[in-house]
Amino acid sequence: MKSFASDNYASAHPDVVAALADANDGHAVSYGADPWTARAEEILRGHFGARSQALLVFNGSGANVVSIRAVCRPWEAVICADSAHVNVDEGGAPERIAGVKLLTVPTPDGKLTPDDVRARVTRIGDEHAVQPRLVTITQTSEYGTRYSPEETAALARTAHELGLAVHMDGSRLSNAAAGLGCGLGDLVTDVGVDVLSLGGTKNGMILGEAVVFLDPALAEGARYLRKQTLQLASKGRFLAAQFIAMFESDLWRRNAAHANAMAARLADAIAGVPGATITQAVQANGVFAVLPRGAADAVRGQWPFYTWNEAAREERLMCSWDTTPDEVDAFAAALAAACAG
Ligand SMILES: Cc1ncc(COP(=O)(O)O)c(C=O)c1O
Repeated sequence: MKSFASDNYASAHPDVVAALADANDGHAVSYGADPWTARAEEILRGHFGARSQALLVFNGSGANVVSIRAVCRPWEAVICADSAHVNVDEGGAPERIAGVKLLTVPTPDGKLTPDDVRARVTRIGDEHAVQPRLVTITQTSEYGTRYSPEETAALARTAHELGLAVHMDGSRLSNAAAGLGCGLGDLVTDVGVDVLSLGGTKNGMILGEAVVFLDPALAEGARYLRKQTLQLASKGRFLAAQFIAMFESDLWRRNAAHANAMAARLADAIAGVPGATITQAVQANGVFAVLPRGAADAVRGQWPFYTWNEAAREERLMCSWDTTPDEVDAFAAALAAACAG
C-alpha cells in the first residue's frame, strides 16, 4: 500500500536500516553513553554550531514537551499558531506534561508574524495573568508553508526584544532547507532560534528526533527533563545510528528534496483537475486542496489521504522520500477520472 496520507506512513530509508544492522553488534554502554551517540552529537554540532547541544529522543511530541519544559516555568505560557501540532495534535501533552498554557493565534497559512507575537504579549508583571515566555513556530508549518531565514530572524528579534525565547518545531526542517537550498543551521542557529525539535522520522528514519539547544543556558537540566519526560532511550545507539545515517551525509537533503519535488508534481497535476483548488503555497512535501467531495472519496479508498478541514472540504496530501513519480501520476489520473465521472 502507498498513500498520500502522511509522511509517517512511509517506510524507512535502506541506509537507515543498514546503519541499524551495523550498530547491532555486541554490547554498548546504555542510555546514550555509547560511541554512536557521541558521533551523532558531533554531527549535529556540525550542522547547528559548536555551542549547540543535542539530546536524542523518541518522538516529536516528546521533543516539543522537553523543549517547552526546559524553557518555561509553571506560570509561563507559549505563543503558537492555532494550527500548531503542539496545540491540535499532541493530546494536550504540552498542557498536561509541560504544564503550560498555550496562547494561540489564528493564521491563514500556519505561520506566525512578529505582530502576532506582539499582540499576545500583554499583562507582563500582572500576577493574575500567565506570562508569555516562549514562541514556538513550525518549520515547515502544518500547512506545508515555510519560513524564510529573514522571517524567522524577524520573529526572533521581536521575541527577544520582548524577553521571549524561540522554539522551532522542526519536524520537517529538512524539507524547508532542501526547498530553500540552504543548510539546516541557516534556518535555525543563524536566525536566532533558541531551541529546536529536529525531525528525523518523517524523512526516512524509523523513529527518532532530537532536542537541539542553541542557547546553552537553556540546556541546563535538560538531560533530567528528558528522563522525566520518558524520552531517554536505554539502547541509545539505535537512535544514534539512524541520526548518523541521516545527517552525516546529505541523505536528509536528498530525501527531503525528493519529497518536495513529488509534492510540486502532485500540485501541478491537481491544479489541472476541474473543480480542484490548491489552497496553500506548496513549499515543502504537502499539498492542501479543495477537491470535489465525491471524487475525493472515490479515490481515497485506493490512495488514502486525510481531510484537513471538514468545513472547508480541504484535503491534505503528503509526499515522502519514497513517493514515486508514477504514483503521483496514477493518483492524478484516478482523480481526474473520478471528477469526469
Ligand atoms: C509539525 C509536527 N510536529 C511534531 C510532530 C511529531 O509528532 P510525533 O509525536 O507523532 O512524533 C508531527 C507529526 O505528525 C508534526 O507534524
